[in-house]
Amino acid sequence: MSHGFLGYDGSTFMLDFVVTALVLIIPALLASLYLVKVRRNYTVHRNVQLVLAGVLLLAVIAFEVDIRAHGGWRAIVDSRQSPLSAEQLETAKQTLYLHLVFAISTPLLWGTTIALALRRMPKPPAPCEHSRLHKTLGWLSVIDLVLTSATGLLFYYRAFIA
Ligand code: HEM
Repeated sequence: MSHGFLGYDGSTFMLDFVVTALVLIIPALLASLYLVKVRRNYTVHRNVQLVLAGVLLLAVIAFEVDIRAHGGWRAIVDSRQSPLSAEQLETAKQTLYLHLVFAISTPLLWGTTIALALRRMPKPPAPCEHSRLHKTLGWLSVIDLVLTSATGLLFYYRAFIA
């Protein structure tokens, strides 16, 4: 039985919410990069990044609390009406561990990128001496988040759709 809104067996509302957020964050990120690279609208780029980080942080905290309240990911996966085979469960577990590598490093990298940008960039934000490092940190953050999203969606697929 599904308690999520995407209709997959065994999933929960918060799991579906975070999966949806992981998909929606990609176009929002592309819009922010377009703003900074093509339109050179640095203030809107900063605002979009701060809102994205805030929304993601709140969603992830709510998600973690919800998963714990449901007894952890194994209990959620085990509530499927059509249980996973031992082999499928092992693959899902490995995908989850890979996902955790990116899911844990992303907020650390994002936090560093944002904290340094806020501290070192002029107000309103504009190209400056910090630009070089910010661009490197910014692109690494983007790649990390995209990998978090891709591996998170792969785990969701393997645990609840396959
Ligand atoms: C985690 C959050 C952020 C990410 C992932 C991010 C990402 C990026 C990336 C990838 C670029 C380089 C685009 C290019 O290749 O031309 C960039 C440029 C820029 N960002 Fe961010 N950014 C973030 C937060 C911020 C914040 C908080 C500020 C302002 C305080 C800011 C201000 C700027 C500015 C001014 C540039 C232009 C630098 C230049 O062209 O010299 N960014 N950002």
